[in-house]
Amino acid sequence: MSRLLDEIALAVARLAEAGVESPRADAELIAASVHNVKRGELHTVADADFDARFWADIARREAREPLQHITGRAAFRYLDLEVGPGVFVPRPETEVMTGWAIERLREMDVDAPVVVDLGTGSGAIALAIAQEVPRSRVHAVEADPLARAWAERNVSGYVETLPYTAGRVMVHAGDFCTTAALTELDGTVDLVVSNPPYIPVGASVPPEVGEYDPPAALWSGTDGLDAIRAVERTARRLLRSGGLVGIEHGYQQGAAVYWVFAEELGWRDTRNNKDLANRDRFVTATWPGPEGL
Ligand SMILES: C[S@@+](CC[C@H](N)C(=O)[O-])C[C@H]1O[C@@H](n2cnc3c(N)ncnc32)[C@H](O)[C@@H]1O
Repeated sequence: MSRLLDEIALAVARLAEAGVESPRADAELIAASVHNVKRGELHTVADADFDARFWADIARREAREPLQHITGRAAFRYLDLEVGPGVFVPRPETEVMTGWAIERLREMDVDAPVVVDLGTGSGAIALAIAQEVPRSRVHAVEADPLARAWAERNVSGYVETLPYTAGRVMVHAGDFCTTAALTELDGTVDLVVSNPPYIPVGASVPPEVGEYDPPAALWSGTDGLDAIRAVERTARRLLRSGGLVGIEHGYQQGAAVYWVFAEELGWRDTRNNKDLANRDRFVTATWPGPEGL
């Protein structure tokens, strides 16, 4: 065994003791980040090159700082995003909803689909759609200036590696609860997607979430549905006839969010959709337009 692999084994035990959910993966990813190698190359690090910053970063993770804040990066579909204080760390469940949006957009008989991402955070959903749907134009709305700065940084950072996305992701300062958000697009949007805040105020969350994700990304009224109701109203204003909406929610909110759409006049094909753990995770619906009402 190499020195680094020995140190990783010790770190795994410490992280497990601290209640970290995936101690081996986290210890290896921290080691890879510190030593600037891929996770599968850890055995190639020479004993003499062991970097003591590994233990400083393990101590941060032991104190339940999110892995992505320590490495400064978050993987999302085919993207490697910059994240840190002030922005929500994108989650794997959101990759599934983003995949739904990408598939629907590719099926649409529209040359340059117009997409709106409400509450873009790091820009994860918006950038993934721009990367994976040729010619799409994605408007990313974010109210929080700190989060918006991360989105702008990720969007401009990708212009070099994904030059074909240049000019196709527009980050807007805006509040999706108001009727002023993107009014110039009213009735023209092909697909609205959103992962809004949806945790009921006062619910208990792990330290990685409560102490590091920004409050504006988490809490949303006593039933957790305030932002979801606002996204429903904004989506019906923005969508063209036949346009689609996809909205993420907590795994216990499937029935409630279904009814936010089913109770409002107009929406068709309202559906619950599952995440990778087979739990209700996002609701999708079609807007038939005023003539369909
Ligand atoms: C759960 S995070 C999701 C971020 C990103 N879309 C993702 O999936 O990783 C929700 C985001 O919505 C933003 N937000 C909350 N309320 C908003 C509002 N009324 N208008 C615009 N953005 C809002 C938050 O600041 C936060 O960045």
